[in-house]
Amino acid sequence: MAFDFISQKLAERKQDDLYRARQPIDLQQSGLIQINDRHYINFSSNDYLGLRTDYEVMQSWCDAMVKHGMGSSASPLVTGYSVAHQELEEYLAEALGYESVLLFNSGFTANQAICQALMQKNTTCVADKLIHASFIEGALAASTQGATFKRFKHNDCEHLSALLGDTDDDCLIATEGVFSMDGDQAPLSQIALLAEKHNAWLMIDDAHGFGVLGETGLGSLEASKLSSKEVPLLMGTFGKAVGTAGAFVAATKQTIDYLVNFSRHAIYSTAMPPAQATATLTSIKKIRQGDVRAELHENILLFKTLAKEAGLPLMESDTAIQPILVPGAKQALEASEALKSLGLWVSAIRSPTVPKEKDRLRITLSAIHRPEDIQALVEALSLVTLEGRA
Ligand SMILES: Cc1ncc(COP(=O)(O)O)c(C=O)c1O
Repeated sequence: MAFDFISQKLAERKQDDLYRARQPIDLQQSGLIQINDRHYINFSSNDYLGLRTDYEVMQSWCDAMVKHGMGSSASPLVTGYSVAHQELEEYLAEALGYESVLLFNSGFTANQAICQALMQKNTTCVADKLIHASFIEGALAASTQGATFKRFKHNDCEHLSALLGDTDDDCLIATEGVFSMDGDQAPLSQIALLAEKHNAWLMIDDAHGFGVLGETGLGSLEASKLSSKEVPLLMGTFGKAVGTAGAFVAATKQTIDYLVNFSRHAIYSTAMPPAQATATLTSIKKIRQGDVRAELHENILLFKTLAKEAGLPLMESDTAIQPILVPGAKQALEASEALKSLGLWVSAIRSPTVPKEKDRLRITLSAIHRPEDIQALVEALSLVTLEGRA
């Protein structure tokens, strides 16, 4: 039969407890999700600040939609680029200290675009082992066109330095500000020094830092006091702390001009709806006022304090992403199910999303969690992971 591999691959996934299925959600609001008429406290959302359902942000989306219509109608180089997109790009460039910014429909496409457009023949990209799948996919595709793609051990500057070695290639170092599955942060200042020493460009995927870290929520660069000089390429997403969707790349005017002209992902795709750009800008301005971020940081501190008291095996993370390793994919699924039966939604993350034998419960905290939600989570985790109920 044609395409025999489909049934074979699905059967293998089931056999290994690695099969995935989507779960339709009825409603997701105020830190709760409703599924099949049951409510759960949601500890699996990247809506770190609760802005996805913020009234002011939603209203600005509606107002802009009435003004600009729903879709953007075309790709950016045709008629899809509006003053709403321009306003967001200019605000981000100014706030982040870059010459220019380009919007993308998702972080996945932004990472692909960077790899496709910049990783040419005679370029070498050295990326952290744990960098997001969207970057790896892009870099692997680029390596079939003649670019060299290497990966350094997670957060290991010595290994990075060794891999950079002596090469005449144009070099791109790529890492994340906050790692999506581990919640830890890259040693950006050290990596920036290495980039300077090797005349390499540093690219940071700040999907999980943007909106959360730094004095005004501008992310990992603001937190590490790095500038566009040290980090020539910055990628951030809007689907997490900002609560909308889409992404941006910040760089020099020349690099953005180059992406506008050569990035197939930006050129051949309908631009994001203009109202989405307006709501994104409203949300970012709100984030910069600071109140919502303070609530998130209080919740992270509370979780870590209670979890330590309970003896839970936390990983090295000070961010909203707090993983707990579980020995095996089956056990991760069972622990997630046991938490569900206690009214808590915590997704099991298994290979290939994380390396084999690094299966985990990935807890994400939000500003909208109440202290009693976090207390309930820690008690349930103790029951499920420490007392072997799973
Ligand atoms: C580190 C990282 N980069 C990129 C992406 C992709 O972003 P988006 O969801 O906007 O496609 C994600 C999303 O999960 C991510 O965690």
